[in-house]
Amino acid sequence: MANQQFDFGLIGLGVMGRNLLLNMADHGFAVIGYNRSPQKVKELEEEMVEGTTIKGTSDLKVLVDSLKIPRRITLLVQAGKPVDDVLQELIPLLDKGDIVIDGGNSHYTDTLRRVQYMQEKGFHYMGMGVSGGEEGARRGPSIMPGGDPEAYQHVKPMLEAVSAKVNGEPCVAHLGKGAAGHYVKMVHNGIEYGIMQLISEVYDVLHRGYGLTNDELHEVFKQWNEGELQSFLVEITRDIFLKNDDKTGKRLVDVILDKAGSKGTGKWTSQDAMDLGISIPTIDIAVSMRNLSALKQERVNAAAVYPSAIKITGVSKEEIIQEAREALFFGTMISYAQGLALLFVASKEYNMDIPLPRVVKIWRGGCIIRSTLLEIFYQAYTGNPELPNILLDSHIAALLKSKTANTRKFITTAIQVGIPASALAASLGYFDAYRSAVMPTNLIQAQRDFFGAHTYQRVDEEGIFHSNWQ
Ligand code: 6PG
Repeated sequence: MANQQFDFGLIGLGVMGRNLLLNMADHGFAVIGYNRSPQKVKELEEEMVEGTTIKGTSDLKVLVDSLKIPRRITLLVQAGKPVDDVLQELIPLLDKGDIVIDGGNSHYTDTLRRVQYMQEKGFHYMGMGVSGGEEGARRGPSIMPGGDPEAYQHVKPMLEAVSAKVNGEPCVAHLGKGAAGHYVKMVHNGIEYGIMQLISEVYDVLHRGYGLTNDELHEVFKQWNEGELQSFLVEITRDIFLKNDDKTGKRLVDVILDKAGSKGTGKWTSQDAMDLGISIPTIDIAVSMRNLSALKQERVNAAAVYPSAIKITGVSKEEIIQEAREALFFGTMISYAQGLALLFVASKEYNMDIPLPRVVKIWRGGCIIRSTLLEIFYQAYTGNPELPNILLDSHIAALLKSKTANTRKFITTAIQVGIPASALAASLGYFDAYRSAVMPTNLIQAQRDFFGAHTYQRVDEEGIFHSNWQ
């Protein structure tokens, strides 16, 4: 056996994997990375920082034989079958007690299956969400590990070293049992979808509706990012408006086709929320709008059938920008509220024991949805870790109340001129329904009982009732 001198191994030297490995090496760990493609191995070695200990290999056995015992190997490969394929290659080379961590965006049910499978073979297996994109992986991501607590102890010091820091505290924590890490990352991405859709709707109203230029939008987002909307997504949006296209000299954002891609994590969030019976309409709409955006040619055809002159008038620029800011703040809060409410229920339903105070704490830095709001949520959960929905926190309630009037105005304006503000409207609709002590669902129950004898409950008496309606 070759000398076992390396602390950590990583499989999958795409940009994320390579950057995470370079980050580990920066913190003094001796690391070895594997990729089947020698080109990727070369890229890793080219980026190696002097004074750090990094090795690349295209031979999986070399990686395994070079690691200290118990081996600690992180996978950063494409979710789905590639993870299973790598495990099949890896398993014959491992010893009992070795630790394998899937750091990709795997579906949590796949992770649960793999945890069981690996456990039966005597290995430790953990699912771990990593957020922050390429730059985050290199300089400090937010890391969401879950599962095997014993295995976590073996990787904790390394994860704490490489993660982002907020007030000196690492943005990593053990987030619960089973596939909790991947579940939390999935919901993180669902919230991410929601906020991105909200930002795009605000952009649409201000740009297509009110005619703000990219320079003006840059200024607007710059100001927003200096206040209560401060966040990674607002910050990068600010910068996007100024970026020029090398080919045409136009602003790049104006030459990008309006078809949004997706890798599935937003959809999984919606699917799982549906299975659990949890309402997350802002996230659902965000997924739907990406799907609708893909129908480019149909939309172009429909635009000819239903032409409309989208032009907002009768409101000053200052007013519409102010309303936009408050509506975005409101919608963003609701997007987080829905995702966190889903985590609250899923944690219990799937027996994951997800500590919500810890989740929002580690989302404060490094990840795509980091924002100053996370500090407010952290305070709320610190006061009450069993909060089923952050909308019930009094400080958050006061903030939302102060934004509802302008949110309504902004959505009304969008609706009047025919700009789809679906995620904003879904956020407001969710809020209005959640705060309704009485909903019109009594009528739905009456209809169900009328045509299908599905029974109903009464407001004045315990029990299950059925009426003869005709
Ligand atoms: C992150 C991101 C990351 C990835 C998304 C993009 O937290 O760093 O969420 O995981 O960029 O998977 O997802 P879509 O391709 O579905 O937009």
